[in-house]
Amino acid sequence: MARNIVLTGFMGSGKTSVGKITAANLGYDFIDIDSYIEEKHNKKISEIFKEKGEDYFRNIETDAVNELAGRENTVIATGGGTVIKKENIKALRKNGVIIFLYCDASVVMKRVGKDESRPLLKDKTERDIENMINHRREFYQNNDYEIDVSAITPIEVAKKVVVNYNKFKEKKVD
Ligand code: S3P
Repeated sequence: MARNIVLTGFMGSGKTSVGKITAANLGYDFIDIDSYIEEKHNKKISEIFKEKGEDYFRNIETDAVNELAGRENTVIATGGGTVIKKENIKALRKNGVIIFLYCDASVVMKRVGKDESRPLLKDKTERDIENMINHRREFYQNNDYEIDVSAITPIEVAKKVVVNYNKFKEKKVD
């Protein structure tokens, strides 16, 4: 049986805010992989990208996944690119139900288009974001359940997460 909820989705899809609400509703712990990395390395994600590059970031992201995947009763918010490596999702799936938060490019643009803390969105247009989402679609499709979050509030999303977690957790095996 699954013991964790793993939220995947593009930057700005609300993984962190939905994750916090979901965890509070269930009495679960909440962990955000990016925040975990920032604390562990004592550096902001944007600094890690700037100083060491994306490949280095992806390696320490996989280390973080492996350190966190064995937790129990935890809502885990992934980074938007965590899904790109199959081994990451494989590890997270062992103990968790994977819920993908789909968000339209226009909504992503409005929410985080100008956010300096996300190096991969620097100087990106809505069209660029749409292309990135399309490019990643096959990876995001590796999920147990998908929620279109473009037009609903994080509280509503969290309710759907809980309902579907309860449906899917029984089906998982250790
Ligand atoms: C990334 C998403 C970010 C962070 C890093 C790379 C991505 O996480 O991990 O900037 O490749 O989509 P959020 O989705 O939490 O912004």
